[in-house]
Amino acid sequence: MSHTRKRLVMGNWKMHGSFAANAALLDELVAEAPQAGDAEVAVCAPFPYLAQLQGTLAGSPISWGAQDVSIHTQGAYTGEVSAGMLADFGCTWVLCGHSERRALHGETSDQVAAKAATALAAGLTPVVCVGETLDDRDGDQVECVIGDQLEPVLALGTEALGRLVIAYEPVWAIGTGRTATPEQAQAVHAFIRQSLTQQGAGQVRILYGGSVKAGNAASLFAQPDIDGALVGGASLVAQEFLNIAAA
Ligand code: PGA
Repeated sequence: MSHTRKRLVMGNWKMHGSFAANAALLDELVAEAPQAGDAEVAVCAPFPYLAQLQGTLAGSPISWGAQDVSIHTQGAYTGEVSAGMLADFGCTWVLCGHSERRALHGETSDQVAAKAATALAAGLTPVVCVGETLDDRDGDQVECVIGDQLEPVLALGTEALGRLVIAYEPVWAIGTGRTATPEQAQAVHAFIRQSLTQQGAGQVRILYGGSVKAGNAASLFAQPDIDGALVGGASLVAQEFLNIAAA
């Protein structure tokens, strides 16, 4: 069966990097990207490096984005960064509601949906992250938890949904080396796809994230509802990241 949605492989650098390290990584990505196959390739960096991404990646096939955005457009919000500012630096993407933001900064699903809406209004593509903890999974609560996380996002409506990306990242698989099996991931992707289809947005791309490596990417991408990957640790190593894209 051919895969109709264009694959997307996105790096999430998290709070890693320096000018020098980024320059080396980006140079290698730009040089090798054409060999990485048909997948769309993108990287999401810390805010201070967005200008560096813009300077290095503009004109290349690799797009870039940020890892968070304010729900506000401007004002007295010290430390916050607006979607318009991200657009000023040529961002295509912004992660919304990564599990580390939800867990460490108390972001609620309503706030995550508001971030997605603000991003869309500025012409960015939000990558809305959802995922269950190990306790949720052991308690057979996966669909309930993902459903709750999705609810305010689905309420944004069909038109908005058609312009965003969802990333399913089981919290227990992030940075742990413990990937969901392709079947486990597919089951949740199918559930998310069904929820989107009910809103008339069945063609939204759904990425899998959580310890994706070159060695497990192909079996994940073989699943009908997995449209690519959100890659943390492995996105910091150019060859590994490109091998994931090539898979
Ligand atoms: P990981 O992180 O690939 O290092 O598990 C994925 C993510 O948190 O986006």
